[in-house]
Amino acid sequence: MSLLAFLPAFAPFAFSTLVVSGLASKALHIGIHIHSLPFLYLVIYSPTLVLPEILIITCARLLLQWPAPETKLQWLSTCVGGILGLLTWGASAIQFGFFIQTGAEVAWNASNSFLSDPAAMKILLSGISTVFAAAAVLGIAAWLLNTQVYNLTGLGLQAIQDLLLSGYNFCRGGYQTRYTLLSAPSKSWINSVDIRSARRAAFVVAACFSLLFLELVRPAIPYDHLSAALPLSLLDAFNKKSSTLGGCRNPATTFPLWTDVDPVPLDEGWSRPSWLPQNPPGGFRRWDVHPDQRAESDNPSWYLCGGGDDGGFYNPKADPLKISNLDRGIYDPLKKAFEQHAVSIDHVILVTLESGRKDMFPMQQGSPLFHSLLDSHPDEDRDEATDRLVEMTPVAQMLTGEYVKNSKGKPVDLRNATWHDTAQKNMGGLNVRGAVTGSSLTFKSILGSHCGVNSLPVDMLEESLLEIYQPCLPQLFEAFNQAKKPQVEPSEEHIVEKRSLAPNQSESLKYPWKSVFMQSITDDYDRQDIMNEHMGFRHKVVKSTLQDHESKYRAEGEEINYFGYAETELKPYIRDLFEEAAINKTRLFLSHVTSTTHHPWETPEDFAMEHYMGNQGNINHGLMNNYLNAARFVDNWLGDIMTMLDEAGIANNTLVVFVGDHGQAFGEDNRDLTGTYNNPHISNFRVPLVFRHPHMPRININANATSLSIIPTILDMLIQSHSLDERDSEIASAVLPEYQGQSLIRPFLPFINETSGSKNTTERDLTPLGPEYEHPHFKSVWNFGVINSGGAIMSVMAANIPYRLILPIQEDFEYTFTHLGDDPAELNPIKAWTLSDLVDLVETKLGDEPAAWLKDAEKVGRWYVNDQRRIWGYREA
Ligand SMILES: *[C@@H]1O[C@H](CO)[C@@H](O)[C@H](O)[C@H]1NC(C)=O
Ligand SMILES: *[C@@H]1O[C@H](CO)[C@@H](O)[C@H](O)[C@H]1NC(C)=O
Ligand SMILES: *[C@@H]1O[C@H](CO)[C@@H](O)[C@H](O)[C@H]1NC(C)=O
Ligand SMILES: *[C@@H]1O[C@H](CO)[C@@H](O)[C@H](O)[C@H]1NC(C)=O
Repeated sequence: MSLLAFLPAFAPFAFSTLVVSGLASKALHIGIHIHSLPFLYLVIYSPTLVLPEILIITCARLLLQWPAPETKLQWLSTCVGGILGLLTWGASAIQFGFFIQTGAEVAWNASNSFLSDPAAMKILLSGISTVFAAAAVLGIAAWLLNTQVYNLTGLGLQAIQDLLLSGYNFCRGGYQTRYTLLSAPSKSWINSVDIRSARRAAFVVAACFSLLFLELVRPAIPYDHLSAALPLSLLDAFNKKSSTLGGCRNPATTFPLWTDVDPVPLDEGWSRPSWLPQNPPGGFRRWDVHPDQRAESDNPSWYLCGGGDDGGFYNPKADPLKISNLDRGIYDPLKKAFEQHAVSIDHVILVTLESGRKDMFPMQQGSPLFHSLLDSHPDEDRDEATDRLVEMTPVAQMLTGEYVKNSKGKPVDLRNATWHDTAQKNMGGLNVRGAVTGSSLTFKSILGSHCGVNSLPVDMLEESLLEIYQPCLPQLFEAFNQAKKPQVEPSEEHIVEKRSLAPNQSESLKYPWKSVFMQSITDDYDRQDIMNEHMGFRHKVVKSTLQDHESKYRAEGEEINYFGYAETELKPYIRDLFEEAAINKTRLFLSHVTSTTHHPWETPEDFAMEHYMGNQGNINHGLMNNYLNAARFVDNWLGDIMTMLDEAGIANNTLVVFVGDHGQAFGEDNRDLTGTYNNPHISNFRVPLVFRHPHMPRININANATSLSIIPTILDMLIQSHSLDERDSEIASAVLPEYQGQSLIRPFLPFINETSGSKNTTERDLTPLGPEYEHPHFKSVWNFGVINSGGAIMSVMAANIPYRLILPIQEDFEYTFTHLGDDPAELNPIKAWTLSDLVDLVETKLGDEPAAWLKDAEKVGRWYVNDQRRIWGYREA
């Protein structure tokens, strides 16, 4: 009975919820894009934008009966209406919650992959309080307005009904009179119908026709996207595109700019390379599979759709974007050190710094970020704030060799750091300035640093279903191991014999490699565990290890974020691993991903928080303050790792690579959009990149390289420093030129001048940013950035040009152009919904040359989106 008593109030409330939430969501939706919409068009097309809402509201009003439903049909329609109201309410609250936290829009079509993933659900739930707050506001508004909304729409419907009726009557009357007109002429038929309703009917017909006309003539981009209405847009969630594992590969398309590449088909003159181990690990297949074998195989992903010569695998000899710098000399001081056998690399550690920004590695004065941080303090506090900030990352100072000065111009005291650099003055290795990540989605970025591949511009880690097109680091080391296994074939014996005779080879070159992956958080988010196995990791320590009763060491502290524990829980495992490497005749490859610097930037309870941020300005600096503290926590942790290396006595034989997976944009960078999700801001892309070795001279490299350079650099270092035996060196030398990235122990080549011939440029002094853009005379290194969660927008840059294009992959997103030379913090992006509009805007504001680059960048970007799918063998089902 009580339910029935409640029902009369339920229908108007459910209806009001649907109306209020739906309209609020539409207002937000348009508000987010308002800056890039021409005002006049927006006004003209605005009626078509709310058309879906009008239809939805009308349907809902018809469904929701009041007073209480009586027949079964009425019950049913009330239920359906109620469910629609609830869905709209919930979805709208999620949109507002998400917007308040990140400034971005929810893409419902990506939500499917989130909902099926428990760790992803935790990310969503971390913002649940803002969603509830938004839901409460919408609910209260709907409750307060429910009678008015219900009655008003009722009156509106009544009016429409009357109009329709009178229109109907008019037509019928007219028809009848005309009929009589024909048979018996009479001039009075028109008096027989109500003139007022005739006018109204005519008005409605005219309005409907204009609406229909506007709907037909309005450009699909962006107005289709803008008119998306809740709850209909939720249907996108069921519209999931998925990859097919077994499909044929897209045929290659012609590169739009230069055509000088003379593509040598992969199969031409094929023979099995002599260096290839008998059963090579995954990643080596393109050398391993005989073209005939491929032709006989029933694996469709080995073929191009519609036939074709090349198998569609990545082929460096046909890659129009590849620029090699391997013919350039090694930096002099490095070359000397290598020649003197002063550098020995027995072990390699690759540390991926979660959300690691270059402008914080180390934190120093002068960057746009530093100015924003200081702006949060009143003038009189700024010196003190500066001193606190510059002391934040002492270990990063030692690792990069970028020693930082405080407010009085004095170097920061590093004595209290968690590590003391043992390297001599001006030693320490390579420090790269200007590096950008290949993706703001962590695992896609890791594919670049661990496998030297570009990731797929599609949502989430679909790569985990596909074959990685280059050997990843663990697979390279596995290939080295295989060559060392005692072999029975006579040819192999010959090699073993040769090796044992070779001079200058230390015992350690014969030890097998062991690849270990460690992170203190879960690895079951978005198929990371599957991808790690594909990359060749056989040993891992992750959150589940730290929780397992059988494990040697279990986590002692609490979980610090929705993914897991603080990195420091790994300490005993890392110490054991270093000791094993030191005493047990193994060569270690450790890949470690830090985690505390992930949203929401919580640190362990006993970690003393500093107040880095003031409270000036009208944004909440709390998140940035947490992030800065987390960055200091990780800096201490890096010091712990380096100290453990020293204690194990292997620091002198270990190369440690530090790279950010991506940056992290905050309100202090850009008020409109924060976080990495669908946020192209450059502060999500600039990352530290350091190759640390205490016996390598310190070299600062200014280059807009990406993490694609990591494998080529490691391989080149291993070869040049004589840290591989002859057989391994042969393997490494054979695969090195097959990777897309350049080796950073040689000067980076940001472009080749086609007119003067490529070889001339190699001797040119390195300028990080090239001359004025003049296509087609030079060939740039193009850097692509896949933006979290992958399939919506992409960043296109060239290493020698300070411009940047954000290219929409889906129609619901805008084009954006920035000039990083004039506007390094991207405070004034130029946006438009079509390329031609953007070109016009850029031409007017900045001139012909950036506009010319922009046109080329769009072509290259579009080509790349297709070509990546071909290389990966990815097809949408
Ligand atoms: C180093 O730590 C000691 C003890 O905590 C403290 O007294 C000293 O002021 C610190 N020095 C610097 C330079 O921070
Ligand atoms: C390119 O590198 C230079 C330094 O060499 C740097 O100033 C610039 O910011 C880099 N570009 C980007 C997009 O990071
Ligand atoms: C050293 O290697 C042996 C054999 O592979 C293994 O049993 C042992 O546990 C290893 N020792 C350490 C400290 O890892
Ligand atoms: C590491 O090399 C330095 C010289 O750079 C030397 O002083 C130190 O003793 C070496 N450490 C070990 C453990 O061999």
